[in-house]
Amino acid sequence: MTTAHDAATALFIELTGREPDGVWSAPGRVNLIGEHTDYNDGFVLPFAIPHRTVAAAGLRTDGRVQVCSTFAPEPVEVALDELGALFPTVTGAGPAVPEWAAYPLGVAWALAEASSLIGGGVDIAIGSDVPIGAGLSSSAAIEGATASALNDLWRAGLDRTALARVGRRAENEAVGAPTGIMDQMASMLGEPDAAIFLDCRTLDTQLVPLGVAEAGLAILVMDTRVTHAHSTGGYSERRAACERGAAIMGVPALRDVSVADLSRAAHLMDDVTFRRVRHVVTEDQRVLDTVRVLREQGARAIGDLLVASHASMRDDFEISVPELDTAVEAALAAGALGARMTGGGFGGAAIALIEADAVEVVSAAVSAAFADAGFAAPHLFTVVPAAGAGRDA
Ligand code: GLA
Repeated sequence: MTTAHDAATALFIELTGREPDGVWSAPGRVNLIGEHTDYNDGFVLPFAIPHRTVAAAGLRTDGRVQVCSTFAPEPVEVALDELGALFPTVTGAGPAVPEWAAYPLGVAWALAEASSLIGGGVDIAIGSDVPIGAGLSSSAAIEGATASALNDLWRAGLDRTALARVGRRAENEAVGAPTGIMDQMASMLGEPDAAIFLDCRTLDTQLVPLGVAEAGLAILVMDTRVTHAHSTGGYSERRAACERGAAIMGVPALRDVSVADLSRAAHLMDDVTFRRVRHVVTEDQRVLDTVRVLREQGARAIGDLLVASHASMRDDFEISVPELDTAVEAALAAGALGARMTGGGFGGAAIALIEADAVEVVSAAVSAAFADAGFAAPHLFTVVPAAGAGRDA
């Protein structure tokens, strides 16, 4: 078992003086391609990573929820029927609990609402191996672990897609981050060796085998250590620009605009809105192209699509930062087949598709480029596609 598993279990015992009823976990994710397309009803291609968040949990009889975490000093305890009143959509203010606690408490609230259950009280202790603020969805991992635990303990019987929706609702309405559903779906539905091709309008999924190791390749994560938060600033501005663009085009969502429609779009809107639209529309097409190329030719052939995706995020969607551009450029200069920032942007991580025997060479090149630019040292590690959320013990 992982460090996070042991840490969460030990914390539960310390908090309650008893063994947990069970231990559940859910992974972070890397998005291979398809950024800021999810809330535009479009396509994404993420995969779950081996880093996991763990929830050790047990029922209690008094209708109260207590959450604690190895990365926060104090437990937070609330009556189940008072949970809804804590969160921004109800109060119009930020969460009335520390932000980390709004994730598991928001899941408890959203799950109780989704299943019409008046679940029993519960104690939850959380530990995590997923780097926080790195663009690897530590938030979806905490939501997925908590949702899996409560789904079993409360016998709610929700399927994985319904649990992903619960996680997203917690994030949107309890934490107040206007994100899409990609991260929660990746964390719930991940499978070893495969990416999840998700249609964010229908929530239909197909597993797409990646075959990275078989092709003699590896995926390097380059965490810039520039932290970001999607509950503030640029993320919601980008989302608003996309909604504006869709309204101008007279469609429900940018999913309904094709690459061929872009020349018409250019005449209808201001330059900034047009460039936001162009990113989303071309990115949707790149996801479809990546799925086709993976199936027909394998992972070795997708490098140019990753590079084009990064350029679009840097120039049209303007969500990259100098550290992400430096990581991508240094990896490509050191021989990576493709590289791009991953996740919401404004910091976080980039990924590079590299030869399996070039991990050290590329890592050294990226570290050197960061040192030359005067940036703090990046955190570099490889990932393989891993299993989604579930019960560990
Ligand atoms: C964050 C959000 C996702 C998605 C990505 C960008 O990770 O949580 O819903 O919008 O950004 O692709």
